[in-house]
Amino acid sequence: MLSRLVKENILALKPYEIKDIPCRVKLDANESPYGYVFEERLLEGFKPNRYPDPQAMGLKRVLAKQLNVKAENIVYGNGSDELIYYITMVFGGPVMVLQPTFAMYEIVAKVLGEETISVALDGGFDIDVDRVVETINKEKPRIIYISSPNNPSGNAFERERIIQVINAATGVVIVDEAYIAFSSVEGFINAHYENVIVMRTMSKIGFAALRMGFAIGYERLIAEINKVRLPYNVNTLSQELAMRALDNPYFINHTVEKIVEERRRLYETMRGLHGIKVYPSEANFILFKTKSAKDIYASLLRQGILVKKLGGALEGYFRVTVGTPDENEFFLRTLREITGNV
Ligand SMILES: Cc1ncc(COP(=O)(O)O)c(C=O)c1O
Repeated sequence: MLSRLVKENILALKPYEIKDIPCRVKLDANESPYGYVFEERLLEGFKPNRYPDPQAMGLKRVLAKQLNVKAENIVYGNGSDELIYYITMVFGGPVMVLQPTFAMYEIVAKVLGEETISVALDGGFDIDVDRVVETINKEKPRIIYISSPNNPSGNAFERERIIQVINAATGVVIVDEAYIAFSSVEGFINAHYENVIVMRTMSKIGFAALRMGFAIGYERLIAEINKVRLPYNVNTLSQELAMRALDNPYFINHTVEKIVEERRRLYETMRGLHGIKVYPSEANFILFKTKSAKDIYASLLRQGILVKKLGGALEGYFRVTVGTPDENEFFLRTLREITGNV
């Protein structure tokens, strides 16, 4: 019956489940451990009878000033996840992804019935330019996603390699800079490549609950994305709170600094543990690998610590989000104990 009613490509999909696993210390989703406390009186006088500003002009103006672009260069989404939908609708497939990377690029392409092409990153998790260029010439992808810093490996790709891909591309290149606040690399906003759209999100810097993501690029490309954007895709409260958050750079800068400092400490400590291989990170999480992967995940969870267990080509690898100093200390102590590093 289902096969008569549901589209074939949807039937073939496995649901993208985000399990709500109870835990004391949540280090699995790359959120910030620091939440800004909005003033209660923000809600006083808020009347929800009218639709939100369909252009989010106030918010776009604040962001445009900070990024040194025009409001016309920005389109916003209900998280960058929604923008991935819009981008895939507008530009179509084949969609090229560099694996391992953020799962949503491929998932959305499949939902929308677009062909996907995977090219593996090299042994150091950087772009294998020769293979990418060869595949571009053969398959002519209409979208190439580059997550830099990359989730889940944590490294930022060498700028020159990204530029080589941009120059070889036959379609748009989406540079997903979700984690750039935690890195020391220069981004691609204002890099002036006509075929590049940069994605940013507020989710990793303390505002995941607002669901606010941005795509920034040439006005003409952004205008096309705006054609498929649902008119009221981000609600009034999220628009207002996001505007206030961006207007208060102290909170974001200060918490990002604390996370980067803690990432350094986590990395240095984990590097000294036997039986664990840890990878350098420019993001708010760290990739690591252990021999007895199954036991370690379960043992951490028994102590109330939730990390992300990776699969596929990254079987045996984990991604741990940088938490508060106390959370990280608890994670390190538990990891030391269960790996016999005491
Ligand atoms: C690389 C990357 N891009 C985008 C997102 C999604 O961000 P948002 O919360 O804005 O939808 C994530 C979330 O984990 C991510 O890792």
